[in-house]
Amino acid sequence: MERPTWAPGEVDLERPSAARVYDYYLGGYHNLAVDREFAEQAMLAMPELPLIMRTNRAFLRRSVRHLVSRGIRQFLDLGSGIPTVGNVHEIAQGAAPEARVVYVDKDPVAVAHSQVMLEANDNAAVLLADMRDVESVLASAPVAQLIDTDEPVGVLMFAVLHFVDSDELARATVRAYMDAVPSGSYLVVSHGTHEYVGERGKQVERLYTRTDNPFFPRNQAQVSRLAEGLELVEPGVVHLPSWHPDSPEEVEDHPERSSTYAMVARKP
Ligand SMILES: C[S@@+](CC[C@H](N)C(=O)[O-])C[C@H]1O[C@@H](n2cnc3c(N)ncnc32)[C@H](O)[C@@H]1O
Repeated sequence: MERPTWAPGEVDLERPSAARVYDYYLGGYHNLAVDREFAEQAMLAMPELPLIMRTNRAFLRRSVRHLVSRGIRQFLDLGSGIPTVGNVHEIAQGAAPEARVVYVDKDPVAVAHSQVMLEANDNAAVLLADMRDVESVLASAPVAQLIDTDEPVGVLMFAVLHFVDSDELARATVRAYMDAVPSGSYLVVSHGTHEYVGERGKQVERLYTRTDNPFFPRNQAQVSRLAEGLELVEPGVVHLPSWHPDSPEEVEDHPERSSTYAMVARKP
């Protein structure tokens, strides 16, 4: 297949990418035929996937606003994805213009598009990196320029930890970031679960082994343990729509079907 102008040379055109499949679920244009076919196949097992992704973006919006209201002015967005409507810097700087954001993703399409989006923004930057390599991320130029580790930081991990294959590594990764930031910093996580969808979820899980990012859903107890040593913000570890909904209708909108846990925790 012909390489689209927006796809950097290192992109494998024959292999679905979790970042581009997610872009397709959200109605974006930075995806390839191989991603769209993959997404349609996954939607045969779980037709609610696009709804889940939109619900995840709504949690991103609410939780970033919440952190700004608690005084957070700098954000590290790990596994930030291909830019879409309502990116973290737009939400944070919309509420506090001085807010600073570093985006980190290992997907070249996500990073290339973030670079274009951020060209005129001195308070936001993007880094191409594997977020599990915490030392490199923290030592990088964008983090050095934009994140002051003497001040509280919002460490954002939306829909990314379920691509880390072991509980131990997921916990160690979270801990390493939270160890590097001061008291009063926050961790925000959204994390896929198959507790409510059983075999349908297993089918999707099997499909994702074909992508560059196999999927490792976790249950509520496993997700809670990711925040060990931190103070959970009320209402704790809940399904996406139940975390500080903008309206009661949101909660009734199939809480189980979000198939994703949400949590915000503060470093004491
Ligand atoms: C499902 S998307 C979520 C995007 C965004 N955080 C959101 O919730 O809307 C997951 C993103 O995480 C990225 N990702 C997965 N594993 C990663 C890793 N180890 N390091 C950096 N990025 C990673 C993927 O490339 C993809 O862009």
